[in-house]
Amino acid sequence: TGLTLVSCNMKKPLIIGHRGAMGHETENTLASVQKAMDLGVDMIEIDVFKVKSGEIVVFHDENVERLTNGPGSIEDYNYIDLKKLIVDGGHKIPMLQDVLKLIDNKVALNIELKGANTADRVNHIMTYYIENKGWSAENFIISSFNWDELREMRTLNPNVKLAILTEEDPTEAIPIAKELNAVAINPYYKNVNLQVANTIREAGLKIYVWTVNEEEDINAMKRIDVDGIITNYPERIN
Ligand code: G3P
Ligand code: CA
Repeated sequence: TGLTLVSCNMKKPLIIGHRGAMGHETENTLASVQKAMDLGVDMIEIDVFKVKSGEIVVFHDENVERLTNGPGSIEDYNYIDLKKLIVDGGHKIPMLQDVLKLIDNKVALNIELKGANTADRVNHIMTYYIENKGWSAENFIISSFNWDELREMRTLNPNVKLAILTEEDPTEAIPIAKELNAVAINPYYKNVNLQVANTIREAGLKIYVWTVNEEEDINAMKRIDVDGIITNYPERIN
């Protein structure tokens, strides 16, 4: 009757806040996580290390100097000393549990295992929050560039969702993704074109690209139909 509906095949990618919303607040702080939620993300990405006293803390760098008033390697700290450090903007380095309490299962959480020997403790904390704190298992996804750490996580937990982080050609990660029964490959966006994306999809894997901040790059990733976009500026994805 004269009305023509123009359909568009593009799905909406998940909006994934990078280190919270680091375009707006100091990365990996509670303020950054809160900002990401305020901006309506579907998922938040954070980085974690295990410190000398055993706690899992939310921080990106091996060394605390870029972001705090202290010196040295984060893994050499006891948490009692680490929490005395002041992060840029007057923040504290949160523990993983602080972030879990703040998010409270309202959005999904991508925990990137940055440090060595993180899998066991992260799995323990995640399981506790699923069994006792109302978190659903579907809301956790564990990623790492350290594939051995992901292998350890899989050994500990047959059900957890894993994503293989890649810096080079992401199709090279398909065998390890299969081996670990991962749900996704998380590639650097400049290494993804339509052909690469199709190869990953045909392997039954989702694609969550990092870290995409500029409008033209965001649009290019949407045209390729990626499943999620990790960004410092969640408000730019819509
Ligand atoms: O998880 C994707 C992205 O965060 C990986 O790079 O250095 O920001 O942790 P990086
Ligand atoms: Ca990260």
